[in-house]
Amino acid sequence: MQIKKGILVACALALSLPAWAQDADSLKSEAAKNTAAFGEALKEELLNGMNNGGPVAAIGVCNEKAPAIAAAKSQEGWKVGRTSQKLRNQKNAPDAWEMATLAEFEARKAKGEAADKLAKAEIVTENGQKTFRFMKAIPTAPLCLNCHGKELKPEVTAKLNALYPGDQARDYGDGDLRGAFTLAKKL
Ligand code: HEC
Repeated sequence: MQIKKGILVACALALSLPAWAQDADSLKSEAAKNTAAFGEALKEELLNGMNNGGPVAAIGVCNEKAPAIAAAKSQEGWKVGRTSQKLRNQKNAPDAWEMATLAEFEARKAKGEAADKLAKAEIVTENGQKTFRFMKAIPTAPLCLNCHGKELKPEVTAKLNALYPGDQARDYGDGDLRGAFTLAKKL
């Protein structure tokens, strides 16, 4: 009898939760899935570019394809993109929530959390609009340092300077936090 009552109470509690709270877990797994698909698509283009002409050609590919891929992955109410504290493309500038989350990721990494596991999900209210927000950190790997590292080939530097005059996304080392994927969905 006692057990049955417990189950009933648990069910009643679950029913009384607001819909968005029940959805939070499924939103989180949807966001993680979208992030992985976005990351895969970017990596594929990057590797294609690198293999078919090296870093200078690949910069052109990133320049054209990265925004297009983000737009293509922004489906079914999701807004998908990348951001960073040190930007290459100003269009990727973080808003207040993203800036705070990037700082939080740096702090969590400094305390020993694995950079490739850093993620945050939160339901926020912005201008009266409830929005599910999600970010996942992007650490650098050796490949990234061709275009984001401390020692760039002169032709890479020249191409970056031409396309991104205010580029801040250099001087990274292996395993640094380069930025984060950022996703949002209005509820
Ligand atoms: C071939 C050169 C190249 C390589 C290699 C490269 N990137 Fe980039 N990266 C770029 C360019 C160009 C942009 C700007 C894209 C745009 O205009 O949206 C960029 C933008 C970014 C951004 C978006 C934030 C911003 O600063 O605008 C992130 C995050 C990023 N790169 C991470 C990485 C990571 C992680 C790797 C390694 C897996 C990597 N990149 C490898 C050239 C490169």
